[in-house]
Amino acid sequence: MRREDPHLHLRDAMTKFLTSKIVEEDLLRELIDDLPQRWEKFSNVVLLQNSAFKKPHWKEYISIEFWQVVSSALGVNILVRIGEIIGEKRESTVEMLVGDDDWVIRRENGIDYGYNLTKCMFSTGNVNERRRMGEVGKRDEIVVDLFAGIGYYSLPMLVAGEVEKIHCCEWNENAIKALNWNLKRNKVEHLCKIHEGDNRITVAGLKGVANRVILGLLPNVEQAFDLGLACLVDSGGILHIHGIAPAKNYDDWIAEKLGELREIEPAKTFVEHSRVRVKSYAPHWDHIVLDVLVSSRKQRVMAFEDSVDINALLVSGGVDLTKFEFHQYWNTMDAIDKIREFSPDILLLDHFIPPIKGLEVLNLVNQNVEQAELNRPRKIIGISSSNSANQDMLYAGADSAIVKFKLTEHEVWRA
Ligand SMILES: C[S@@+](CC[C@H](N)C(=O)[O-])C[C@H]1O[C@@H](n2cnc3c(N)ncnc32)[C@H](O)[C@@H]1O
Repeated sequence: MRREDPHLHLRDAMTKFLTSKIVEEDLLRELIDDLPQRWEKFSNVVLLQNSAFKKPHWKEYISIEFWQVVSSALGVNILVRIGEIIGEKRESTVEMLVGDDDWVIRRENGIDYGYNLTKCMFSTGNVNERRRMGEVGKRDEIVVDLFAGIGYYSLPMLVAGEVEKIHCCEWNENAIKALNWNLKRNKVEHLCKIHEGDNRITVAGLKGVANRVILGLLPNVEQAFDLGLACLVDSGGILHIHGIAPAKNYDDWIAEKLGELREIEPAKTFVEHSRVRVKSYAPHWDHIVLDVLVSSRKQRVMAFEDSVDINALLVSGGVDLTKFEFHQYWNTMDAIDKIREFSPDILLLDHFIPPIKGLEVLNLVNQNVEQAELNRPRKIIGISSSNSANQDMLYAGADSAIVKFKLTEHEVWRA
């Protein structure tokens, strides 16, 4: 009977194979101890890691027969060893060990991804990001995927999401072939247009069309920021920026990227919408995705504050308010109606203010948002002079809180 644990199975099969080659006992033990402990398996394929069977002591035994023993021990008929992803076309250097055809199909979250193993890349570690892409796209949106590959991010958006159309840019012929196949296989080809060639050229036909742009190239996607921005409609939209950030602190990397975007389009507003860790990229470095909200309108700020002129406070503290439309109320009368009407991006709430406290305004905001009667401001900030009042605001759902007189230091003004 076949043992269930594939490691034991590989061990048994290799012991038998090596013994038949009359390997001396010490060496046999050394080789068996050096068998791979990890590999990736899907359908009828096993991908061995780059280091598997690479040590010199294997050299003498490696042959077609050797690989066949490994593949049948692991119960597959395609066996490959992965190498580096190389070059600007991100071509894979997979080594085919057993099998004649490298075309494989991976099924993930109900989506089929077909591709040539030895010619295209597929990162299994990005599974959560692929799922997320299926959730973020909104109905009627037009999306540009500047580095589409075989459709890693576009396919979930088309299959699981409700976007109207995706423009996929790609220059690797093998990836384009797989992308075409994947669109048909998943029955979404009518929702996608492929723009073949260098996106620095094909982007000319995509200026001002998109509500959302995916920038999924590692490690230096900054080089395409200008392309991504050019694709967005005049009023703005969302950029999904992939990058490599220090694992311990994403803040500086994010600030740097926002700064680079502002340099390209100083008249627009750029704010962090969210940040997502995809996976570890290297020791101390993570692959992350920064979602940036790009807007051509001014950020609306509404303050409920009864004693300090917040506009004057910010200006005297050196904050550039030209990108903000500012409104202050000196009491909280009809606060919810005022918030609904102005629809602020940033809401500043003092605590001790008549007739109802900032905390009560916040509770009302929460209730109205829950009942879908109010758009939640992107940032709600408690600005009491009392630390404990600010703590209460945080408990009640404020995004941050800061002592009023330090408000100029808040990162929100760096948009
Ligand atoms: C890194 S892959 C996408 C992989 C995917 N983000 C993932 O993590 O699984 C990026 C794709 O962009 C394509 N690409 C890179 N530079 C390009 C350019 N200038 N124009 C068009 N496609 C490009 C590459 O051929 C590759 O298929």
